[in-house]
Amino acid sequence: MGFQIPNLIFFTFLAFTVSALPENNSSNKGLNSISQINSNSVLVALLDSHYTELSELVEKALLLQTLEEAVTNHNISIFAPRNEALERDLDPEFKRFLLEPGNLKSLQNLILFHMIPARIESNHWPVGVKKKPVYHTSLCRDAGDEKIPLHRKNGEKIVGTARVIKSDDIIRPDGIIHGIERLLVPKSVQQEFNARRSLRATSAVIPEGAPEVDPRTHRLKKPSPPLPAGPPPALPIFDALAPGPSLAPAPAPGPGGPRHHFDGESQVKDFIQTLLHYGGYNEMADILVNLTSLASEMGRLVSEGYVLTVLAPNDEAMAKLTTDQLSDPGAPEQIMYYHLIPEYQTEESMYNSVRRFGKVNYDTLRLPHKVVAEEADGSVKFGHGEGSAYLFDPDIYTDGRISVQGIDGVLFPPEESKSPKAAPVAKIVSKPRRGKLLEMTCTMLGVVGQDSRFSNCH
Ligand SMILES: *[C@@H]1O[C@H](CO)[C@@H](O)[C@H](O)[C@H]1NC(C)=O
Ligand SMILES: *[C@@H]1O[C@H](CO)[C@@H](O)[C@H](O)[C@H]1NC(C)=O
Ligand SMILES: *[C@@H]1O[C@H](CO)[C@@H](O)[C@H](O)[C@H]1NC(C)=O
Ligand SMILES: *[C@@H]1O[C@H](CO)[C@@H](O)[C@H](O)[C@H]1NC(C)=O
Repeated sequence: MGFQIPNLIFFTFLAFTVSALPENNSSNKGLNSISQINSNSVLVALLDSHYTELSELVEKALLLQTLEEAVTNHNISIFAPRNEALERDLDPEFKRFLLEPGNLKSLQNLILFHMIPARIESNHWPVGVKKKPVYHTSLCRDAGDEKIPLHRKNGEKIVGTARVIKSDDIIRPDGIIHGIERLLVPKSVQQEFNARRSLRATSAVIPEGAPEVDPRTHRLKKPSPPLPAGPPPALPIFDALAPGPSLAPAPAPGPGGPRHHFDGESQVKDFIQTLLHYGGYNEMADILVNLTSLASEMGRLVSEGYVLTVLAPNDEAMAKLTTDQLSDPGAPEQIMYYHLIPEYQTEESMYNSVRRFGKVNYDTLRLPHKVVAEEADGSVKFGHGEGSAYLFDPDIYTDGRISVQGIDGVLFPPEESKSPKAAPVAKIVSKPRRGKLLEMTCTMLGVVGQDSRFSNCH
């Protein structure tokens, strides 16, 4: 296979590129000074999740930067109250209190009380006869010594006063989201509320939620879509790419079925067809047809339950490629890999991310290169400076597993111009988990002793 598969395995370990330095410190305005969050972060996942009420509150509470910093330093676990807990079930007076600008601190404290600066997986709930609760400190500094107990009751997982209704709902390299039944209110916030509360009895009637307007489109918000963009890719795509029986992870089943539950091959054919019919993307479609190994690999991945977003340069953009850029052996593959994002993203989900975070890094299948995206002119712009491309034809094809977004430029990794092939390996071998990784690399590459770059293989 002519693929660059071996490098893919390292993606997971290179996935953190968030930096949240103060933006007005001019001596820091170097390469890394701009805050960038990885698209694979639990934070991005939260904002795109079905916990829309919580994520709106996170934004209203102006907590994004605090949380970006948190996930740079450590994993976080988020206990996310389901939407009903924040709309229907919440005392309207309390909600009003939280949303008053003067009570921002209380709102922040309330939200941070649902987050723990550690990775708590479902198997971390105490089990056994004694069932002693395990106490965790939350991210809410004002909670004093009020900790969050995890325990079990009648076999159910409980956090504080709330039942866990969906443990491990969203899993990301830097954190986990568990769905909970109701809000956790720290005593400090309760006291603030009581102190400010008027004596007037709360209205007996809980108002119906007023229709909400999407600030972007000025249209009424749709009820939660059946397949929200950016749902947790249940399966990290890189697992599927591990070659060799001893390294291969457990087979990745499609939902509720045996392998090959999805007919990935026909989905790939389908989207290539769509590209052709759409018009203006013939070059890209052509390359995909010609690079049969690429297309069939994509088909295989989708068959196994993985998801992909294809950034498809239009014909005008492709026409600007020089023969030089295409003539190196494997160059077309390399170019294509840089346009494949191992996540399911739609125009809306990408636009929301860049609006919230400024810059977002998407992993590509061309490792370890990421493609950076930011908001520009009400659209999403990928890449840097001259080599950037705008999202031009959004959502050309979206079937819940493959998403195709038309762009008006061909993207290259930033360091491309200097040393196209050198970097990744040197970087990888110095990573802390090198023992296992190195062994895997060497096995996969099958280059032990042949290539000086891999001299560490012994
Ligand atoms: C950034 O600018 C603000 C206002 O000009 C100032 O208060 C703050 O100290 C500055 N922060 C840094 C890190 O320079
Ligand atoms: C700006 O950054 C530099 C280098 O990190 C640091 O030494 C300096 O104290 C910072 N200045 C401010 C105002 O934060
Ligand atoms: C988050 O947890 C994972 C798994 O335990 C670990 O590999 C990773 O380094 C952690 N990330 C941070 C930022 O500490
Ligand atoms: C695809 O293959 C056909 C036939 O070999 C060739 O004419 C065409 O130029 C190729 N297209 C691309 C984009 O490489």
